[in-house]
Amino acid sequence: MHALNPSTAAFAAVALLSALPGTQAAGLYTKSSPVLQVTAKNYDQLIAKSNHTSIVEFYAPWCGHCQNLKPAYEKAAKNLDGLAKVAAVNCDDDENKPLCGAMGVQGFPTLKTVRPQSTKNGKRGSGKPVVEDYQGPRTAKAIVDAVVDKINNHVRRVGDKDIDAFLADRNETAKALLFTEKGTTSALLRSLAIDFLDVISFAQVRNKESKANDMFGIETYPTLVLLPGGDKEGLVYEGEMKKDAMVKFLSQAGQPNPDPAPGKAKSEKKGGKKDKSTSKAAEPSSKSTSAPFSESTDVPPADSKPVVAEVAPPIPAITSDQKLINECLNRKSHTCVLAFVPSAHGEEAEKALASLSEIAFKHAHGQRHLFPFFEVHTENEGAASVYKSLELSKDVEIIAVNAKRGWWRHYAGDYSAESVESWIDAIRLSEGAKNKLPEGVIGEAVETAEEKPAETVEVKVEETVKVEAETEAESAATGAEAAPEATEHDEL
Ligand SMILES: *[C@@H]1O[C@H](CO)[C@@H](O)[C@H](O)[C@H]1NC(C)=O
Ligand SMILES: *[C@@H]1O[C@H](CO)[C@@H](O)[C@H](O)[C@H]1NC(C)=O
Repeated sequence: MHALNPSTAAFAAVALLSALPGTQAAGLYTKSSPVLQVTAKNYDQLIAKSNHTSIVEFYAPWCGHCQNLKPAYEKAAKNLDGLAKVAAVNCDDDENKPLCGAMGVQGFPTLKTVRPQSTKNGKRGSGKPVVEDYQGPRTAKAIVDAVVDKINNHVRRVGDKDIDAFLADRNETAKALLFTEKGTTSALLRSLAIDFLDVISFAQVRNKESKANDMFGIETYPTLVLLPGGDKEGLVYEGEMKKDAMVKFLSQAGQPNPDPAPGKAKSEKKGGKKDKSTSKAAEPSSKSTSAPFSESTDVPPADSKPVVAEVAPPIPAITSDQKLINECLNRKSHTCVLAFVPSAHGEEAEKALASLSEIAFKHAHGQRHLFPFFEVHTENEGAASVYKSLELSKDVEIIAVNAKRGWWRHYAGDYSAESVESWIDAIRLSEGAKNKLPEGVIGEAVETAEEKPAETVEVKVEETVKVEAETEAESAATGAEAAPEATEHDEL
């Protein structure tokens, strides 16, 4: 890693490098945290394909609300241990960005519960998991209650009327019966039934059902009885109502399903195309409205409270030609990034603008200086003339321009945040191709009365912070010895 060098140039380089894609930001949760840390690679195995219910927090380590949530979330994880999974995905990690995007994450933290579909006969459905936004209070108790509520119930309620039917195939299938005074099915019993899906059939019998209770001579509650099947005698559980000990007891009738399922990677390789489609099916999709289960996925209830999240604000739009000159195209203007889009936007424009706002937001939170980004409408005369001079042609174009130094750069990639960000980072490091800015593009700044106050502030902020970056860019561009060496030194 880089040695900290007290020279300004080296500091600037370290700051710049920390913004490069591929840099792994440290997550919010340590290895010893009860919160399960999930990545794009293992999300499917650990969460989407699990038979258990999960709550997943999509977060960024720099986000204040995420830091505030951490103690409550860890407490919820401890309370839900063995009952449901409490997981977190670091969306600041480049590897995870596509997952966070696919999950429709727009602010941090975003909390979602994920559980398998449960079909009418109580079996696990084979399709996509049901994904729902959690928008309740950010307290351990509220989170635990909401997650417990989403644990699928594979436990049959059995009474005097149907006890015989339930026991009819007892020689073939192992069965577990919990005799209890309660009418509701506990999270613990539901989670056990999930662990032993297709291995042991679970039932709950109330103490009032005298025939059923008498059949097994039950006198105290709760009592758990295991019928292992075949010739084996029924067994009565004597221990505490604790998950680990109960799993051990029940394992006499068969092993619980390993979670995550083993050997999946192998079969996925072998199966090729076919398996790819199954894994796709397991991926939740917040977009596809044609999906048969879309009504149960990702659609927040209409009356839900607004999400308390930090959402990247849109980048400012420049709506007048004079403002464009004032901000970015006069002889004193520093670097600006301009997104030329039709004022009606459209899909491409939305994507480009969303990527830019995300990048600006991220940098602002990391307290890293970044040149300003603006949205410019291509219908404006000024924009049209820039298009002509720079020979731009697409509906949506992103350029960086530094009128003071007389250069501009053209962005040519797709409009994903990753791709745009690596281009931005190259500009910050003064890498990549610059074009000479044609004379005609530069105009005279005219301070309009209404713009003046805002601009004074902007310029001031820019000037104080900008010194380093500009110096660095300048010396790199002029081929000065010291700066490029310092940059090389600090590269990874
Ligand atoms: C189950 O097996 C036992 C012992 O082999 C036998 O006595 C009993 O009749 C069988 N019960 C059923 C329902 O098949
Ligand atoms: C989920 O349950 C099914 C039985 O319905 C079982 O075959 C499978 O192994 C379980 N998967 C996991 C990951 O536990």
